[in-house]
Amino acid sequence: MTNAVELTGVAKTYPGAGMTKALDQVTVAFQRGTFTAVMGPSGSGKSTLLQCAAGLDRPDTGQVWLGGKEIGALKEPKLTQERRKRAGFVFQAYNLMDSLSVWHNVLLPQRLSGAKADKAWAKEVLTRVGLAGRENDRPGQLSGGQRQRVALARALAARPEVIFADEPTGALDLTSGREVLALLRESVDTLNATVVMVTMTRPPPRGPTGSCSSPTAASSATSPTPALRRSPSR
Ligand SMILES: Nc1ncnc2c1ncn2[C@@H]1O[C@H](COP(=O)(O)OP(=O)(O)OP(=O)(O)O)[C@@H](O)[C@H]1O
Ligand SMILES: [Mg+2]
Repeated sequence: MTNAVELTGVAKTYPGAGMTKALDQVTVAFQRGTFTAVMGPSGSGKSTLLQCAAGLDRPDTGQVWLGGKEIGALKEPKLTQERRKRAGFVFQAYNLMDSLSVWHNVLLPQRLSGAKADKAWAKEVLTRVGLAGRENDRPGQLSGGQRQRVALARALAARPEVIFADEPTGALDLTSGREVLALLRESVDTLNATVVMVTMTRPPPRGPTGSCSSPTAASSATSPTPALRRSPSR
């Protein structure tokens, strides 16, 4: 099985008074068609790990492969093109465009990448996250949980190979959270996507209960290491 995402020896220190070592020599691989939960205490480097893995941030040292391509070596705008082609990202803080409607937010990544927008699928995804009929609303008219579901729909609408989701159920009630997790699970099962998700909740199992791998991911100078939980691969 090939790896959808791979990090080797990735380190990231944020400058400033504390010089926080958010990632310290992280080596980890996420196989294609798997659903992995990254778990750990606040400040342990989970968001930094996802951002480096997705090419949204550059590590200080180490290598990152996305879809078999070493993205660390890519310069802009090639890096952005690769990321848009291969990855969808659900940010912890949603990162929606306030001036655009729900519908245009969902289609934005496809428009930016120059791809022909799959409007039927975008509509289906919006229905699946429970936002049918809210297409013309602006993010400012939505609750936190609804914004999070728009962010998820935006990530799914482009059918990316890899979906990075940073606490995608953090602002949702139990029922909505379960639906979001089921949708992510389905992306793995039916679209052969790979999901890497920061969460406080176990990923929903496919068949037998998921297994827990040894924590080889991020470590921090200031806080304990996040752990990885994988549900069964295909
Ligand atoms: N832009 C930044 N500048 C300086 N320090 C940062 C920055 N981003 C993160 N950090 C620091 O790096 C460490 C890891 O942060 P990160 O956001 O990756 O943690 P996290 O595990 O996602 O936390 P949370 O669960 O609270 O979202 C923290 O100590 C944080 O303060
Ligand atoms: Mg975080």
